Amino acid sequence: MASGQSAETMQKIVSLAKRRGFVFQSSEIYGGLKSAYDYGPLGAELKRNLMNEWWRSMVHEREDVVGLDASIVMHPKVWQASGHLAGFSDPLVDCLVSKERFRADKAPRPEVGESLIIRCPDKGLAKSYQAQIEERFGVTLERKGTELHGLTLIDNATFSFGTGDDAQTFPYRGYVSPLIGSPFLSDERQFNLMFRTQMGAVDTIGQLSSFIEANPELKGRELTSAIDALIKESAVYLRPETAQAMFVQFANVQQSMSMKVPFGIAQMGKSFRNEITTEHFIFRSCEFEQMEMEFFVEPGTQAEWLEYWRSKRLEWWKSFANHPERFRTREHDADELAHYADCCYDVEYDYPWGWDELEGIASRTDYDLKKHMEHSGAKLSYFDPQKQDPETGKNGWRYTPYVIEPAAGATRGVLVYLVDAYREETVTDAKGNDSTRVVLGLHPRLAPIKAAVLPLVKKDGMPEVARKIVNSLLSKGMNARYDEQHAIGKRYRRHDEAGTPFCVTVDGESLSDQAVTVRDRDSMNQERVAIDKVDVYLEEKLSV
Ligand code: GAP
Repeated sequence: MASGQSAETMQKIVSLAKRRGFVFQSSEIYGGLKSAYDYGPLGAELKRNLMNEWWRSMVHEREDVVGLDASIVMHPKVWQASGHLAGFSDPLVDCLVSKERFRADKAPRPEVGESLIIRCPDKGLAKSYQAQIEERFGVTLERKGTELHGLTLIDNATFSFGTGDDAQTFPYRGYVSPLIGSPFLSDERQFNLMFRTQMGAVDTIGQLSSFIEANPELKGRELTSAIDALIKESAVYLRPETAQAMFVQFANVQQSMSMKVPFGIAQMGKSFRNEITTEHFIFRSCEFEQMEMEFFVEPGTQAEWLEYWRSKRLEWWKSFANHPERFRTREHDADELAHYADCCYDVEYDYPWGWDELEGIASRTDYDLKKHMEHSGAKLSYFDPQKQDPETGKNGWRYTPYVIEPAAGATRGVLVYLVDAYREETVTDAKGNDSTRVVLGLHPRLAPIKAAVLPLVKKDGMPEVARKIVNSLLSKGMNARYDEQHAIGKRYRRHDEAGTPFCVTVDGESLSDQAVTVRDRDSMNQERVAIDKVDVYLEEKLSV
């Protein structure tokens, strides 16, 4: 495996995430909701810290970017203009044998003349699939271990069982199911990735029943399209990306803040996609958070700005990493490019399953602003009085800005840093016994708890001193936690797993020497620090 982390480690990270309160399965007590996750006390802090760092670097540290916090539900015409209503849909198919549901456009496409072998997960299923096919399609495939043989792809529209005059033929859809390679498939159905809901006091069910009663002649596809049209009248959608509001509000933001091109609008928040395949824990889920910025530039300058943001974003991700070598950028091939982009890079991470996307940095041309002008009639262009119009040669140039869009996943970023920070070390105690220390080496700025304050024992004035230190750290804005549960060694290990960079221990000497021991999570070195200097000491160490 290319990554420094194995699939087995991924399992350990998922279980640590639950054990230490980073990520829980949503609605777990009811059996869980597929691909929905809750961020627990430490996960909420980690996600918030990551998003705050993004905001700091994209908005607060720059004069040319301003923020936006738009509503999740927008006018449905936004999604018509952006192409999400028409194009943000996948053709879905069911395998009639294994019941697997998959995307037709991603399915394997065997060559004409090839044998279509159905490969079953085990011998029991091979028997059961063989019987099902016999019953439903009237052909008995030959079973060889876990494989079913006897089908051949005749041409692009037909496959057969047997040869010659006795051959039985079946319509072929152009692909087979990814899991077992079966050509016995349902019709394709379009499936929109946007979550649809209704806005206002609309009795959709009542409307639909009256409509169906009034039109008994409508059946099948006709009935489906009529119902679809009816529902669309009051339908609104949960945004599938945060990006569109920044195009729609381009003129308002530019004018209210007197922004001059080049400038950017940044937004972070929830997005929703009814993903068919949800995978790898929080990597791909239906509800997730994004951190996106639309950077508006003069036409013709997009290539240099794309390069600027490509390198800036890659460096940003690396700056919090334990393993910067696990981050890279990859340029999209021509056939991967979205229809609106003239070039695109992905920031990729070397996950336990290999290199995969973390952020997309697209050169989106003037596609979005032009589409919204076309659909809304609003003017979303920009006038630069200092520039000459390249067409007329006159002073003053009105143009539609081009856009560079760094679009990152915040929840995916949480996964990346959990994977990146996880490590196991062998440590030897004073008696020479080895044990495994699990550490989340999170960057101090991302770490949920900055310092744990631990009285060595729960008596002799130690808890009181510890509480005083916690209060002084909290008053300085550092998320500190008082912890007196279990023996000191166990507490250290607990905070190593939680990614807490420092443990401050109040011991028997503290009352007399007015000092405490500060233990560094990574080196495990311990330093004696005066109680009244602990806050300054930690402030310095934490703002690395
Ligand atoms: N506005 C462009 C846009 O949304 P995208 O590549 O579809 O582009 C950007 O999404 C980022 O959002 C991705 O790189 C990924 O980090 C994150 N993302 C997209 N879909 C996701 C999902 N289903 N679950 C978690 N993160 C997702």
